Amino acid sequence: MAKRIDIKDLNLFYGSFHAVDGVTLAVPPRNVTAFIGPSGCGKSTVLRSLNRMHEVIPGARAEGQVLLDGEDIYSAAVDPVSVRRTIGMVFQRPNPFPTMSIRDNVVAGLRLAGVRDRKRLDEVAERALRGANLWAEVKDRLGKPGGGLSGGQQQRLCIARAIAVQPDVLLMDEPCSALDPISTLAIEDLIGELKKDYTIVIVTHNMQQAARVSDQTAFFNLAGVGQPGKLIEVDDTEKIFSNPSTKATEDYISGRFG
Ligand SMILES: Nc1ncnc2c1ncn2[C@@H]1O[C@H](COP(=O)(O)OP(=O)(O)OP(=O)(O)O)[C@@H](O)[C@H]1O
Ligand SMILES: [Mg+2]
Repeated sequence: MAKRIDIKDLNLFYGSFHAVDGVTLAVPPRNVTAFIGPSGCGKSTVLRSLNRMHEVIPGARAEGQVLLDGEDIYSAAVDPVSVRRTIGMVFQRPNPFPTMSIRDNVVAGLRLAGVRDRKRLDEVAERALRGANLWAEVKDRLGKPGGGLSGGQQQRLCIARAIAVQPDVLLMDEPCSALDPISTLAIEDLIGELKKDYTIVIVTHNMQQAARVSDQTAFFNLAGVGQPGKLIEVDDTEKIFSNPSTKATEDYISGRFG
């Protein structure tokens, strides 16, 4: 199997608290991997460790390896800022810069990287907004504040902002949890489109969503309060939802707990 991301024996800590124990998991290119599991099992923690956002939290650290196309993003030679450019992230709550214009929101990352050419920025903004399926709705109001969009539009704006810098991988942490069902379907359709170009890892509490959008599903669990979260199994989504290997996975997906 070709591997875009290859996680090897990854352990994650918050100070002395061992939050996630020994995750080994590979993500193929142009694939959607869903992380599922009960609250507190470490899904967000693992996701943040994939673009070195975990260590931004004071006292937080990672042990183990995360290879991106064979190169360990945790090796001393690697600049975390460049990792975050290659591996973009979309959060649970849409977080556009509210007073900044729609256009400037999309190109914020490029401007930060020093791009000043207006024409180039306009082109990138249009391409990213088209890619995020938002162009038709905002093309006549690009100068208006990002905060003036609906929740679903704001989330697509954040996706546009993430893809504007042309990342290889997109990490999404419950990207639909603040959205209504129509906006949720719009984002799910978009994920289906984006996976032609990107490798996507999505955390979701919505089993239907995991089944609809992902190719591969990873189930995490924890033995009890204060225990570290663990990866229980990872497999083709179809297999996980029809014939999981462990009883814990079966109980979780059939809604018996969590
Ligand atoms: N900033 C932090 N400082 C200390 N502990 C944290 C921090 N963030 C998370 N944790 C702990 O790490 C463990 C895993 O948390 P995480 O947020 O990764 O879970 P999750 O699976 O994403 O849960 P949810 O489904 O509720 O979002 C939990 O015990 C949590 O309390
Ligand atoms: Mg979480």
